[in-house]
Formats: sequence, structure tokens, C-alpha cells
Amino acid sequence: MKITIIGTGYVGLVTGACLAELGNDVFCLDVDEKKIAILNNGGIPIHEPGLAEIVARNRAVGRLQFSTDIAASVAHGQIQFIAVGTPPDEDGSADLQYVVAAARNIGKYMTDFKVIVDKSTVPVGTADKVSAAITAELAVRKLATETTFSVVSNPEFLKEGAAVEDFMRPDRIVIGCNDDTAGENARALMKQLYTPFNRNHERTYWMDVRSAEFTKYAANAMLATRISFMNELANLADKVGADIEAVRHGIGSDPRIGHSFLYAGCGYGGSCFPKDVQALERTARAYGQDLLILRAVEQVNDRQKHVLGNKIVERFGEDLSGKHFALWGLAFKPNTDDMREASSRVLLGELLGRGATVAVHDPVAMAEARRVLELDFANQPEALQRLRFCENQMEALEGAEALAIVTEWKNYRSPDFEQVRKHLKAPVIFDGRNLYEPTVMSDIGFEYYGIGRSVLTRG
Ligand code: NAI
Repeated sequence: MKITIIGTGYVGLVTGACLAELGNDVFCLDVDEKKIAILNNGGIPIHEPGLAEIVARNRAVGRLQFSTDIAASVAHGQIQFIAVGTPPDEDGSADLQYVVAAARNIGKYMTDFKVIVDKSTVPVGTADKVSAAITAELAVRKLATETTFSVVSNPEFLKEGAAVEDFMRPDRIVIGCNDDTAGENARALMKQLYTPFNRNHERTYWMDVRSAEFTKYAANAMLATRISFMNELANLADKVGADIEAVRHGIGSDPRIGHSFLYAGCGYGGSCFPKDVQALERTARAYGQDLLILRAVEQVNDRQKHVLGNKIVERFGEDLSGKHFALWGLAFKPNTDDMREASSRVLLGELLGRGATVAVHDPVAMAEARRVLELDFANQPEALQRLRFCENQMEALEGAEALAIVTEWKNYRSPDFEQVRKHLKAPVIFDGRNLYEPTVMSDIGFEYYGIGRSVLTRG
């Protein structure tokens, strides 16, 4: 099938590459000329395991092309996926300007029936706005009545770091269609497109458009809630002398609760949870409902990003000038170079803000971190000078008062602790992802601070 992807970012590029891999003829559009140039020169603008190979393979056989040519992109695909960003507006609601611009472009150039798929995470009611934008452009061209289209909601559930795998083997595919004639045509085309994913068993949940739009926010809000819930319990566990890891096992074994997403840590980040929780809250507010739970989820997370900094201050004092720390992990989670809303940025703000020097390491996010941190500290160039990027994780430890771990990269899970001790000035670890066992750490002579694990560190 002929597919157009509008917006070649994390979601668009993965969607385009994977649909090409399944035999479709895919045209990926982006307004960012630099991004398209990188892709057309055989590069990949993001780090995502397995993606480079799929992109190279499908480009080579002509099933995947990248371009900034809007007219050509509209002409290409009968199915047009909108996968542009939906960043938070100033008040936290989703900024739909890129979605609407993409819809307008479709309306400006389309000449035959199109299925427009909202792949971006968009608030309930956005499909109507997309329809209205297209209709307005068709009206300008005096084609409003003869050119038909249908807007479908097909939210994306892939996880960065495992995006290709998630896209190729989805737990579920959610598709919301209208029940008019154009909607029925759209449904038939979507069914055909997703047939390869439903071979062994049906994974598609068909629903109305608004429910599909809502489902994506409900999923992210639920996951974020579980994390904040566990983080709040972890902070209490620290106070009452319980071990949150034991508690996690104890409750996760109940099938009504399940084991996933119960990990306490130093807060969630990324391009989705923070903005989607906020956007759902703002949608509710627009309808006169105060989503108390989600407000709390957000507040707990904002607070949790300071938990490592607070523990460090408790141990080393408010004034950290003259003190040197090591930090492992900059990306918001492993297997990605994405720094959006990463907890490391908050911790660095605290450490550098209190006068410390910091040596940092991340296996893949160093270049992106440099770019983002230069912006974060644009008004504090002096603080930025106290930050050193190290290519080697052990080198980052050299002479540090303590190591703080923010991202649970595999490289950090079982380091040579002898080497860690040798490089650090003192054997002190603040573990924001509960990677190590406190008893083991204490046995091998480390002063160890996890999240919600104080019962075992008190000795
Ligand atoms: P991104 O920022 O990586 O990519 C968006 C791309 O769209 C950019 O390259 C931008 O230049 C391009 N763009 C903007 N306006 C355009 C236009 N009018 N025409 C063509 N291209 C245009 O964003 P990302 O992370 O891929 O997210 C896209 C959407 O998918 C968001 O709504 C996000 O919430 C959602 N999503 C993201 C996931 C993730 O893990 N990143 C997972 C699931 C959903």
C-alpha cells in the first residue's frame, strides 16, 4: 500500500520504516531539512535499537523515501499518517499547531480519497479539528463536496528504546473510525494495512474516534500513576524502615496488580508521560472536571526528581562548592538518547547550582545531553564549566565524593565494584534506580542510598 508519514521523528520514522519493512511503499515527510538530509545521506537522527538496519534495507530497495516536498507527500499515500509533535502549550494543554498545519497541507493538495490517521498523541476531539482544517482548505479550492476523506485515530503505544520491537509486535492496535461511508472505507484500508500484525491472533481494538483518542491518554496516565504511587510509598518506606523492593514483589504477585511499572526511582521523564498527564488534566479542566489524581501524580513526580539531590544534600550539606560528584546516566531511560524531561537535568541543576563539579557519563546520550544542557544552563555559563563529559564510565568516577545513578543502563547494572571503589574518593553511591542490593553493597564496604530501601542500609 502507498503510505505517507508526516513528521519523521521518533514515532514517524519508526512507523515509516516498519511499514516499509512489511512491504509498503512509504514516503516520509518532514519540515526539518537537516533531518531529511541526514536520512538521505544514510544516517539516522535518533538512537533506536535495530532502526538503522531497517531504514537502510528499505531505502536500498526504494520502499522508503525521505523528503521535504509537501505536494509530493500528499500525492503519494492514500493513507496519510500524522506523526508530528504535540508539545505542551504554555498552560500544559497539547499544542496542536503542527497537527493542524499537517492537516491543512493535506487539504491544500489532495485530489482523491484519503485516510488521515492521527498517530500523534492528541486530545479527544482533535480528529474533528483535523477534519475542519482539511475541509477549510478544500473549500478554498472549491472541492469541499466532491473530495472525500476520513480521519482515523490510531494512537501509538511504542516505547523509546524498544520502538521497533514494540511496533512490529504490538500488544494491541487501537483504531477509532467514524461509522459513515467514508469511515467504513477508511476502516477497510486500515484493516488491510494492519493485517500482518493480526496473523496469529486479532490484536486490533476497533472503536469510535473519541474513545481511541482517550485510550492513549488513559494508558499513559495509568502508567504514570503507578510510578508516582510507588515513588510516594518508597519515600514513606525510607521513613518507616521498610524495603520498597520487598513490597514491590509482595504486591506485584497479586495478578490484579501485576509486576510491571512498580519500580520506585528518581522520577519519570521523556516526551510522553509528563506532557500527556498534563494534557489530560487540562482537557478535564476544560470540561469542568478537576482530575485530582493526575494533579497529584504530576506533583509527586516533580518532587521525586529532587529525591537524589535531597539525599546528597542531607549527606554532604547545603553548600557543595569544592565537592566533586560522578553521575551515570543522562537519558530519561535506557536505550535512547532522548533527554526530554530527564531526571538527570534536575539533579545536575541542583548539584551545579550548589557549586559542585560533576563528571557525567551516558552510553549514547552524550551529544544530545551536551546540546540540551547548554540550553538549560545558558544563563549560568559558569556552572556549565563545572560539568565534564566522560567517554568512559570509570573515568567519570575519578576523585568523586560519591556516584549518583540516574538511568538504569545495562552497563551500570553490574560494574566491577573494586574498580568503582578505586576510582571514587570515597565508596558512596546514590542509586536513583535501585540497581543494587543494599546488603551486598554494605558487605562490600559501600555506603549505599537507594530509593525506599533504608531498612537494609541502616545495618
Ligand atoms: P518528534 O519531535 O521526535 O518528531 C516530530 C517531527 O515532526 C519532527 O521531526 C518535526 O520536524 C516534524 N514536523 C512538525 N511539523 C511538521 C509538519 N507540518 N510537516 C511535517 N513534519 C512536521 O516527536 P515524536 O517523539 O515522534 O512524537 C510524535 C507524536 O507521537 C507526539 O504526539 C507524541 O506524543 C507521540 N508519541 C511519542 C512516543 C515517543 O516515544 N516518542 C510514543 C507514542 C506516541
